[in-house]
Amino acid sequence: MTPTDMNQRPVACIVLAAGKGTRMKSDLPKVLHPLAGAPMVRHVLAAAESLNPARIVVVVGPGMDAVAKAVAPYPTVVQERQAGTGDAVAAARPLLEDFRGDVLVLYGDTPLVTPETLRALLGVLRGAGDPAVAVLGMRPADPGAYGRLIVGADGGLERIVEFLDATAEERAVGLCNGGLMAFDGTRMWQIIGAIGNANAKGEYYLTDAVAIAAGRGWARAVVEGPVDDVLGVNSRAELAQLEAILQGRLRAAAMANGATLTDPATIWLSADTRLGRDVTVGQNVVFGPGVTVEDGVEIRPFCHLEGVTVRTGAVVGPFARLRPGSDIGEGAHIGNFVEVKGSRIGKGAKANHLAYIGDAGVGAGTNIGAGTITCNYDGFLKHRTEIGAGVFVGSNSTLVAPVSIGDGAFIAAGSTITDAVPADALALGRARQSVKEAWAAGFRARKAAEKAAKGKG
Ligand code: UD1
Ligand code: MG
Repeated sequence: MTPTDMNQRPVACIVLAAGKGTRMKSDLPKVLHPLAGAPMVRHVLAAAESLNPARIVVVVGPGMDAVAKAVAPYPTVVQERQAGTGDAVAAARPLLEDFRGDVLVLYGDTPLVTPETLRALLGVLRGAGDPAVAVLGMRPADPGAYGRLIVGADGGLERIVEFLDATAEERAVGLCNGGLMAFDGTRMWQIIGAIGNANAKGEYYLTDAVAIAAGRGWARAVVEGPVDDVLGVNSRAELAQLEAILQGRLRAAAMANGATLTDPATIWLSADTRLGRDVTVGQNVVFGPGVTVEDGVEIRPFCHLEGVTVRTGAVVGPFARLRPGSDIGEGAHIGNFVEVKGSRIGKGAKANHLAYIGDAGVGAGTNIGAGTITCNYDGFLKHRTEIGAGVFVGSNSTLVAPVSIGDGAFIAAGSTITDAVPADALALGRARQSVKEAWAAGFRARKAAEKAAKGKG
């Protein structure tokens, strides 16, 4: 089948997310725990979205309003009682009963599934024999408590047996159920409707779908996928394991796209981090959500970036913090212990040491001296500082917003600037220096005498 044929049948996705995640020991629903800067369930949705599905439905538990919010704009249905994966899928029926296409079932707590694996599963569903159901199999090193795929003498998938219900012989089978399944939507609800709960757990097992399809003489398909794709999160330790795998994938992708990561294991990326060609990232750099780094940028060690665009050829760090809403212009330099928030830094501008630039505009070629602070907050509201192009802001200046500084102006070091500075002006906002000649010698003599007098008494 060519990719074009494959796209002719519309796809719908059901994401199961009603599980309580008790073992996370958390007030946050399990699927909202973040991986690579985004809630776990958003990774599942992103994989689903890669198929251009006609519909996505998320199954949640009672009171999981936060999950409903996080999966917007996709609709949710509530599974009233957690009665098993088969029951969870049945909860989505009202939203999909009229759907004529292929229906994919994904788990909200299995976030590493890739578009390739989903395509492979759809591929076998749409392949030879017109299967009613397709299952994603895998062969983990330790099959543990996974369901086992039981294949008949003819090589066809006969049924799935859950670990608790399996005989010793069945438990010895290495081919396991990865959990993801795909259905022909026109036969799906007949199958789901026939699932019972006569098993060790007294739950409605989605996995029974295979034996039910077999009983009706409908074909079943299986495709083996990578174990990593179907790893689930049940505990904080597993969350950390999956984060490590995901970080490995993101780093590999960044390098494949032409970024140098000096010590990849120390770089933390968000799923949406975009690094251009010939970007160099030094050791120990954190990319929070919403970062775009254009070509040829150098991020030196120990920087923290979030919600920022860094333009071509800029140099950042070491030890810089770039906060949301910032735009670092082409060739600009942001140096050590400089924090930038909600600010636009112009082309070639420099803030090389110890500064806070918040809610500001900084023009092209402007130099921000060491220790410059924009006082953007008056205790109630935030205010903007507008600094023009080619401005020289002397060291240790405080710019009390709202305030503006015109193009080409000079701010004397140590100034507190509260009023607008016109273009090309010099602004001095500090006490005038006074010098008392020979004062120190007199002071020392006086103090020495005082000390001697005290020693006698
Ligand atoms: C399931 C499979 C098992 C497979 C394994 C792979 C069944 C019966 N078993 O077992 O064969 O090897 O996945 O990881 O399907 N959920 C609901 N409502 C429910 C129950 C579950 O929404 O009532 C959701 C969970 O939140 C989770 C997913 O469905 O996202 C899977 O449930 P889980 O309890 O983890 O199934 P397993 O026992 O792991
Ligand atoms: Mg599970």
